[in-house]
Amino acid sequence: MKNQRKSEEEIVLKKRWLYVLLGTLIVAAMVLSACATATTPPEEPEAPEGEAPAGELSVGVVLPTKNEPRWIQDETRFKDAFEAAGYDVQILFSDGDSAKERANVQSLVSQGVQVIIICPHDATAAAAAAAEARAAGVKVISYDRLIRDTDAVDYYVTFDSVSVGEAQGQYLIDKATGAGNPLYLYAGAATDNNAFLFFEGAWNVLQPKIADGTFVIKNSSQAVALQDKATLTRDEMGQIIGQITTDWLFDVAKNLAEAHLTAAPAADKGNVFILAPNDGTARAIADVFAADADVTSFVVTGQDAEIPSVQYIIDGKQSMTVLKDVRTLVGDAIAAAIAYLTGGTPEETATYNNGVIDVPAKPSVVVTVDQSNVVEALIDSGYYDAGEFTGLP
Ligand code: BGC
Repeated sequence: MKNQRKSEEEIVLKKRWLYVLLGTLIVAAMVLSACATATTPPEEPEAPEGEAPAGELSVGVVLPTKNEPRWIQDETRFKDAFEAAGYDVQILFSDGDSAKERANVQSLVSQGVQVIIICPHDATAAAAAAAEARAAGVKVISYDRLIRDTDAVDYYVTFDSVSVGEAQGQYLIDKATGAGNPLYLYAGAATDNNAFLFFEGAWNVLQPKIADGTFVIKNSSQAVALQDKATLTRDEMGQIIGQITTDWLFDVAKNLAEAHLTAAPAADKGNVFILAPNDGTARAIADVFAADADVTSFVVTGQDAEIPSVQYIIDGKQSMTVLKDVRTLVGDAIAAAIAYLTGGTPEETATYNNGVIDVPAKPSVVVTVDQSNVVEALIDSGYYDAGEFTGLP
């Protein structure tokens, strides 16, 4: 009995050893194959003539948030374009937090970058980070959103944001007939300079149509109080934006739209027109209006041509978007960075005042997209793959 147990124990022990041996061999094999892969030289994209070689971290990018498809799109396009240009780049996200943004800038500066491309979360709060980069001899490129109230901005790559707002306002005008059409206004975050430019553009075209009675504003007493003024000061825009801001957040947009529809009598609904500042907020606001039994139909604007909104447009749930071709913006930003790295100056076709200086800039054009041109503008152009969508016309 004892002997039998002993030999059983020996067998178990032997088996254990075999397993250990086998496990060790597998791990060793894995390590060896990983080493073999690691020592295979990676294919380096060739640096174009006159440019810094790949491998040097000379440019850093700081983007505001990963919570919106818009900025993920920028990240992807940046990676593709920097790789094609033969540069190493580090792209950091600020999670909608100015303190994190500043830490990101500090980290890039300490790694020795020569150019930083920043899309500020908060225009004014970003001034301190820009000043720190400038003090370290780093060139600061403001990306899409302007950094305000500092002279530490070297260049601004942007779309023509006033024309984005004009395209949105014009779309509502083109879809409206008769008089007394209910108009609901929404805006971006007051900490984002673009929110003012978009609103300014929309007001440029909508105000005459409010003054002549085509539209009647239903959700902002400040906008009603100023509706006879063709041109608003920044402060006046600030008063309106303060009432109708979405803060660029879906939930804020949703709650605000719900509050407006709860407060509005059925007579202020029917066939409504909605100025929504971008795609994310447009989807949130559109869902709320679609759920209201007293809303018969609605026209709602957007911008960014985010994939979920393009699907909404195909499905008839969002009326339009404004395509801001991120490839162009990224290309302009990289051209500016390379200009600085090679001792040149980026192309200037306009300037934008940031409260302290006129920042040299090169604004790009934008395109209105709705069901009628969605395939041509977004699929045929190669911007997106048809496979990203269902039910394409
Ligand atoms: C950008 C928009 C974006 C919005 C919210 C703006 O500054 O220009 O494209 O939708 O911020 O992130």
